[in-house]
Amino acid sequence: MSNQERPLTGRFPADGSALDRAGYERAGGYQALRKVLGGLSPMAVIDEVTRANLRGRGGAGFPAGAKWISVPRDLKPCVLIANADEMEPGAFKDRVLMEGDPHQLIEGMVVTAWALQARHGYIFLRAEYMEAARRLERALHEARAAGYLGDDILRSGFSFDIRLHQSAGRYICGESSALINALEGKRAIPRAKPPRPTTSGLWGCPTVVNNVETLCNVPHIVARGARWFLDLSEGPVGKRGKDGGTKVYGVSGRVRRPGWFEAPMGLPLRQVVQEWGGGMVPGFRLRAVQPGGASTGFLGSEHLDVPLDFDSPQKFGARLGTGTVIVHDDRTCPVGALLNLERFFARESCGWCTPCREGLPWVAEILKTIEESGGDSSHLEILEEHTHLLGPGNTFCAHAPGAMEPLQTGLVLFREEFERHRRHRGCPYSENGERI
Ligand SMILES: Cc1cc2nc3c(=O)[nH]c(=O)nc-3n(C[C@H](O)[C@H](O)[C@H](O)COP(=O)(O)O)c2cc1C
Ligand code: SF4
Repeated sequence: MSNQERPLTGRFPADGSALDRAGYERAGGYQALRKVLGGLSPMAVIDEVTRANLRGRGGAGFPAGAKWISVPRDLKPCVLIANADEMEPGAFKDRVLMEGDPHQLIEGMVVTAWALQARHGYIFLRAEYMEAARRLERALHEARAAGYLGDDILRSGFSFDIRLHQSAGRYICGESSALINALEGKRAIPRAKPPRPTTSGLWGCPTVVNNVETLCNVPHIVARGARWFLDLSEGPVGKRGKDGGTKVYGVSGRVRRPGWFEAPMGLPLRQVVQEWGGGMVPGFRLRAVQPGGASTGFLGSEHLDVPLDFDSPQKFGARLGTGTVIVHDDRTCPVGALLNLERFFARESCGWCTPCREGLPWVAEILKTIEESGGDSSHLEILEEHTHLLGPGNTFCAHAPGAMEPLQTGLVLFREEFERHRRHRGCPYSENGERI
């Protein structure tokens, strides 16, 4: 793939350092900003992004243009927040983008701020991302010095600045309204909606929260147009996909080449695992795959031809999520893997609503019983019941339903493995993952 076809990562320096301002400018950086300030109206930017069908890369796939157009323009000044919390287990794409090309995020934010006529911007960064913080601070400083950020940007009369906020570190801080509470110095629990943050968010101001990767796409769409962006994606043979752009995918687990790569949106799962991931490590077979991080459902090996776009995995109980694929192998106990996942979700529940606060630890406890002593059919029934009790609509935010996605699909896909635990009166896998 050429650099043109890898717009988000094609400019990364080969030595792993961050692209500095001069390098970014040489590679065409800040041209989109010059273009909008040179005479593109905020509405023209929103129209282009809407036509490009840029869907949010933070997990839910909400169309960016539709979110931006819903911001009331006659209230208080608008705030723009880049969501760089990225605590979903398996996800690391935003860190890659911020460390490799921090000016791309900055330009994406300033162009988006122009479209929204926002005055204030924040990057809400995961606590552990120390290196990303250093590189972003340096880039923010460089951008201010060059007049791309701050008062009267490029003498256009438009002013916008960005503050870097390092999170105190909880998974729930990634949920957009909990993030806003955290920024205000309050306990990070999701807010009641309505009002949505786009109407009343940070300090009561209309607030747009977008994922880092979403924002990084914006300068490219503005510079090259919606049609170019739509043509980047992949669909059924010879056709482009319906969701525009590329995706920064990740692949982890027992594959030969775990890591990240940028490829067309809509790439078949098989290509992610076999071509980019290099296939399974010898001696291991693929059992299942979570296509988009820990909170997405399992797909079995029969689903390897599913295109990784926003809609296709949903037909099989999974989601594109963050597009960071977790590969599960046949020598690791799937019940133990589920226990590990549900323990994480139970620990990260913010505790505000009862089904999630009480239900997730109970799910983890039942899985522990099955893993340690096999359990019986009543345990499977309780787990099954919880996938409904904690499902969409029964809790205050998407944390608990997200935790139920791997459980719901795992109960079907790993049925035989649950039965083996019962017959074996505990885990039939030894410590090193070999079958006994
Ligand atoms: C528990 C939880 C954690 C989340 N974590 C993140 C995150 O780390 N980064 C992110 O961009 N979105 C995260 N989201 C989704 C955000 O609420 C929001 O939808 C997203 O930031 C919007 O940006 P986008 O439309 O550009 O994807 C999370 C949602 C939930 C429920
Ligand atoms: S679902 Fe869980 S994380 Fe979300 S508000 Fe309720 S208790 Fe908090």
